[in-house]
Amino acid sequence: MFNTSQVRQDFPLLTRPDSARQIYFDNACMSLKPSLVIDAMTEYYRDYPACVGRSSHHLGQLASQKVQAVRAKVAKFINASSEEEIIFTRNTTESINLVARSLGIKATDRILVSDKEHNSNLVPWQLLCQQTGATLEVLPSRADNTFDLDHFAQVITGARLVAIGHTANLDGVTVPISEIIRLAHSAGAQVLVDGAQAMLHQRLDVRALDLDYLAFSGHKMLGPTGTGVLYGKASLLNSLEPFLVGGDTVESVTYTDHKFLPVPERFEAGLQDYAGLLGLGAAIDYLSALDFSAIREHEYQLNHYLTSEVQKLAKFRLIGPEDPRQRSGVLSFYFDGVDAHQIALMLDNMSGIMIRSGQHCVHSWFHAHKLTGSARVSLAFYNTMEEAEQFIKTLTKINQIF
Ligand code: ALA
Repeated sequence: MFNTSQVRQDFPLLTRPDSARQIYFDNACMSLKPSLVIDAMTEYYRDYPACVGRSSHHLGQLASQKVQAVRAKVAKFINASSEEEIIFTRNTTESINLVARSLGIKATDRILVSDKEHNSNLVPWQLLCQQTGATLEVLPSRADNTFDLDHFAQVITGARLVAIGHTANLDGVTVPISEIIRLAHSAGAQVLVDGAQAMLHQRLDVRALDLDYLAFSGHKMLGPTGTGVLYGKASLLNSLEPFLVGGDTVESVTYTDHKFLPVPERFEAGLQDYAGLLGLGAAIDYLSALDFSAIREHEYQLNHYLTSEVQKLAKFRLIGPEDPRQRSGVLSFYFDGVDAHQIALMLDNMSGIMIRSGQHCVHSWFHAHKLTGSARVSLAFYNTMEEAEQFIKTLTKINQIF
């Protein structure tokens, strides 16, 4: 049994006097931040606000050591072979753009994406294919919005890259990532995984999965905004062309030429968000101490309760499979004939329940399904059954109003 009352003490927003009206169900967009993350960022600005990797004075050295320790923490957290395989970016989107822009895609290449990709894992590939003449192919999901592995097995031959979301922000469905990677590798294709929605709910082991590239964001895993990671196998990163270039990416420069630093520095141009990175390190410390199997069960219990109760509401329509075990902590739905934004506003006004509404940056899926948007509950380990009950009470009233 997961102890929510204990972890809630760690989150300032959940210990405020008005915390009963801070029912935060928008974790797929942004997770809350525990105090130790906020403290780590403040510590940087207060105690060693210096340049990293540039200044040899004692504050510069301290800041450099602290940031390098975060790289080591990230590498350990995802079980990378070395710190060199960890590139700091601003977010998942930048990580994916880095790969897209650096792979050297050619007109003869085929790139596969699923039909539920976030714009971050679709638009970069669309643009790249338009510019290079490469082919972008969209893999259709099964009728229940789960991944169609049989279809994938039929079309993977000859692909250069599969760019796929591990867990969909649209409906919480996780793809069979091990099988996808195995099939892709046996067909000679590389796999880039958008792990943004996975990191708050499970541990990903890049070596056990044999991942080629993994992109994720700090802000969805208890960390600060503006922090992200690109993991890549060292052999692959060494073959990529630099994407953003400039200060701290080069070993030496003349007026006519330059020599790049090795990975990861060659991909980290300009001054970085050091305070943010230290916050990310603290977030990883926090996550590393959690029992993810207990978290998974806790989130399932909440989602099981929500799913069984909402089915009683006449107007309710679910997006994704009925079984909550297949939807991580997500309940994405719409009411026939009702604007999803109106549902979200009413939940907030009536009970302080915060969800996201709209197309969740998966416009392509909504256009293809001729839907204007959905209301999306996305849970985290600090959510409680009392909050879920309040949601059901409020949504039941909203259902009666319409
Ligand atoms: N990817 C974020 C979400 O799903 C923005 O809300």
